Amino acid sequence: MKSTNIVWHEGNVTAADRWRRNGHKGAVIWLTGLSGSGKSTLAHGLEKELFQRSFHAYVLDGDNIRHGLNANLGFSPRDREENIRRVAEMARIMADCGVVVLTGFISPYRKDRRRARRIAGGIDFVEVYVDAPLDVCEQRDPKNLYKKARAGEIKDFTGIDAPYETPEAAEITVRTDRATVEESVAFILEKLLPRLKIDRLPIGL
Ligand code: ADX
Repeated sequence: MKSTNIVWHEGNVTAADRWRRNGHKGAVIWLTGLSGSGKSTLAHGLEKELFQRSFHAYVLDGDNIRHGLNANLGFSPRDREENIRRVAEMARIMADCGVVVLTGFISPYRKDRRRARRIAGGIDFVEVYVDAPLDVCEQRDPKNLYKKARAGEIKDFTGIDAPYETPEAAEITVRTDRATVEESVAFILEKLLPRLKIDRLPIGL
């Protein structure tokens, strides 16, 4: 923390107040997995299903956030760490506002994902491992990036010459090479909906 002499200001309207009015809790649904595993597709599928059920839902997606908020970051371990830290802070703020935030970032490092969970604090954080074997992602190669990485045109590409640390304790895992998009969305949704009910709110919110 660089700034000093700053004091947290509590508002008069709490997260719980906002959530009650919305009829559901805010939450952070953290999708992690290799490039091409299906994070964005599932996040947008979930957003649509939630929206149709009158939930406030919104997707924060790696490629999009890197066009704006995180345009100054690359793919070194330090830049990825900062990418995830900022997204985690933003997701927390949005969930506090009342949104079910669906994030789709590779987030390859366990410690960064742990930190994102810590940043969420009392807000429900659901880690979803979007699991597909590297060779399947490479075959899909929707953006032709694996090809470029293999040719040495992109350095530090996750799965090729940069690591992906598989989740050890994800709340939900889907195998996108074995299930259809609709099946994976339905599977996640079924687990998610009960967690978004406001009957039990965490203390202090
Ligand atoms: S993360 O590692 O910091 O979480 P993030 O999800 O934001 O990554 O961005 C990943 C997206 O950036 C990929 O889907 C891909 O389209 C693109 N990309 C460009 N260069 C790389 C790279 N070196 N490694 C991984 N993804 C990359």
